[in-house]
Amino acid sequence: MVARDEKMIDRVVSSLSTILYGGDYNPEQWPEEVWQEDMKLMKEAHINEVTLNVFSWSLLQPSESEYDFTLLDRIVDICKANGLRIVMATGTGALPAWMCLRHPDVNRIGYNGEIYRHNGRENFCASSPTFRKYAGLLAAKIAEHYVERGDAGASDSPIVAWHLSNEYSGFCWCDRCAQAFREWLKVKYHNNIDEVNDAWNAHMWSHTYHSFDEIFPPNTHGDGMEGGAYWAGHAVLGGYSLDYRHFYNQQVRECIQLERDAVRTYDRYAPITTNMMGTFNDYDYYKQGELLDVISWDSYPGLGEDAAAIDMRHDLMRGVAHGEPWMLMEQAPSNQNWMPYCYVKRPGQLAELSWQAVAHGANTVQYFQIRQARSGCEKFHSGIISADGTNKTRRFREAAQLGKQLEQLSTQILATKPRHGQVALIFDWNAWWDIQFSVGPTQALDYVAECQRWYRELHRRNIAVDVVSPLENLQDYQAVLTPCLQSVDKAVVENLRNYVSHGGRLLMTTMTAVADEHDSLYQGEQPVPLRDLAGIWVEETDSLAPSTPVGLAFTGEEAQAPQASLSTSKESAPAAGKATDGKSTDGEDAGGKATGNKVAGGEQPYGTTLFDILHTDSDTEVLATYTDQFYAGTPALTFHALEQGGKLENGAAGVIYCATMPNEPAIARIVDRLLAGLAVEQMVTLPMCEKCQSCGTPCSPDCQKATSAIEITRRVARADKSGARDLVFVMNTAEPPVSFTAPVSGKDLLTGKLVKQGDTLTMAGFETLILQQ
Ligand code: GAL
Repeated sequence: MVARDEKMIDRVVSSLSTILYGGDYNPEQWPEEVWQEDMKLMKEAHINEVTLNVFSWSLLQPSESEYDFTLLDRIVDICKANGLRIVMATGTGALPAWMCLRHPDVNRIGYNGEIYRHNGRENFCASSPTFRKYAGLLAAKIAEHYVERGDAGASDSPIVAWHLSNEYSGFCWCDRCAQAFREWLKVKYHNNIDEVNDAWNAHMWSHTYHSFDEIFPPNTHGDGMEGGAYWAGHAVLGGYSLDYRHFYNQQVRECIQLERDAVRTYDRYAPITTNMMGTFNDYDYYKQGELLDVISWDSYPGLGEDAAAIDMRHDLMRGVAHGEPWMLMEQAPSNQNWMPYCYVKRPGQLAELSWQAVAHGANTVQYFQIRQARSGCEKFHSGIISADGTNKTRRFREAAQLGKQLEQLSTQILATKPRHGQVALIFDWNAWWDIQFSVGPTQALDYVAECQRWYRELHRRNIAVDVVSPLENLQDYQAVLTPCLQSVDKAVVENLRNYVSHGGRLLMTTMTAVADEHDSLYQGEQPVPLRDLAGIWVEETDSLAPSTPVGLAFTGEEAQAPQASLSTSKESAPAAGKATDGKSTDGEDAGGKATGNKVAGGEQPYGTTLFDILHTDSDTEVLATYTDQFYAGTPALTFHALEQGGKLENGAAGVIYCATMPNEPAIARIVDRLLAGLAVEQMVTLPMCEKCQSCGTPCSPDCQKATSAIEITRRVARADKSGARDLVFVMNTAEPPVSFTAPVSGKDLLTGKLVKQGDTLTMAGFETLILQQ
């Protein structure tokens, strides 16, 4: 059995005591002479690991009854002889042709009823008994084979981790899945069809079911909607589609579990993982993560994505890992092949992106792939070794330099771990799917983008954020944000209530706690299950085109728009700018100074897209009001203290409710208020251009732009590592050089240079400093 007291991630590096540096290697595409050349080049690039066998099922099992590991053995032997560690895949990511022909049940049926033939990858039916049988068998045979050979199963084995399949994805709509869905529903709803009808509100549009046999997977020809841009992908009954998601997730979990158990039967030491994809819509990674020893993921930033977008995914994956370090299983050495525009990484960018991952918790740095594909759909995807097969390319030299640095700094880095956030941002798959399946109130609500916008404001301040499940223990967080957490079940409600009632500060936005987990609107004054804590009632929600902003006036900032506040049955809402005790609430004092981030450049704060029209309770403080539309003057941002008279600036617990989707200047103001009076610190002072040093706040858009690419993230010393010290990663995440005043002192481990707080620091594009303090 796996020892519970040992961190599984440590096992990945234990036999080398160094950060794993390598990645997918597919030598089957070349003759053996090329492999020998690759070995030399890998050594030169300080590569110490290869991920093998990701898509080799057809080679390993040429027919139903034959297994042949000869080629893989040869590759393993050569890698071993060259001192490489191995992450061994079970090889089940792509089906062999014979299986698809002889056993059609392995083939997926698509949303429109189309039959998949042998091609591509990750296109098996997760309910197929044939797939399950042979995937489990292959995983078992490989593990057994390499344990018997002495290549796996012990702390010094070359095989340091197992990689199940590859990027599980997609769904199937076949008859077998339909039957399995019915069985799953029977268990979930206690074999009682009325419970299903109730959960799905099935009496609408004559959906009332009288037996489980009447239920089919919701697809184009069933309950899913298609044909017309607006309806595409939405559902008639949200609960029905949500249940299909949860059901299929469970089918995939069972596939993961059977391969995992097969491997574990033989190798009782090495951690088992599968590579995830960040904010990937298909599956609930919190649930899949429960099955894995270590979380790993593949990071492929899009052209022009900023550091915050990338880091939110890193932090989500760390949230799936419950704060533990994770493996960066794949990234591209330079260009990816599958983007609309396959940009090459700029000089220095590969290293910077890798350090960014390490700063957020990666304890390995791995690529797809080591040698560029010879042909096929990945021939334009970069490898560390390109088609020229030499060490002469820029990408090779940059990868080699990074490899050397990782080798040199492994001990110090592995003696640290990612920091615990002070603020949590809740990200939830059920809420995401629920928004996606809902028809209305707007087609412009992009859940991931909305989470990113709030995350970005915290990131800009270098505040330590954790991106976590709504069921995570929230008690250690100073503040928690739930952007558009549309659906919440009882357990989530309880967790959020518990957090606030124990002194937490929660920021809820529009479209939070609107529906239960089955997509049924809570009955009562919205947000029903948190209505009392939020101190507001959302009577109605206006939805306008994103191009139609509605201005926001923040209390204490400027002359207020006339008040036309709606009132609850209890009492009238207070006017903006007035706390219930009659004292003026000054927005600056409430947060601006505390966090040192005034909004620069004069762009007006406004809300977009959705506008809740609120009633406030008598003890609810209004922090901002709308300035346009018929609801001008009514509350758009409120605070309801847990205890009577509690003040934001004194750190009072309670709920801030943001009734709209604010633009950046508005988000900055709201986050000022969210953090007011709390002990949330920027990890280090936000860097600013020199001219803004004196006033202490970035005072122009140029100033903000100049420094917004600077990211500062800390990894903290592990208590169980003697002599461990915190490391501060200072990264210029963009191409233009930036000068600013060093916010912290330390010795840069990459260059040996001493940096003194207060010195002017000029960082080249994509430069990184790793300061030991
Ligand atoms: C990943 C996948 C790899 C490779 C890579 C190309 O999603 O796991 O096998 O296809 O993309 O970017």
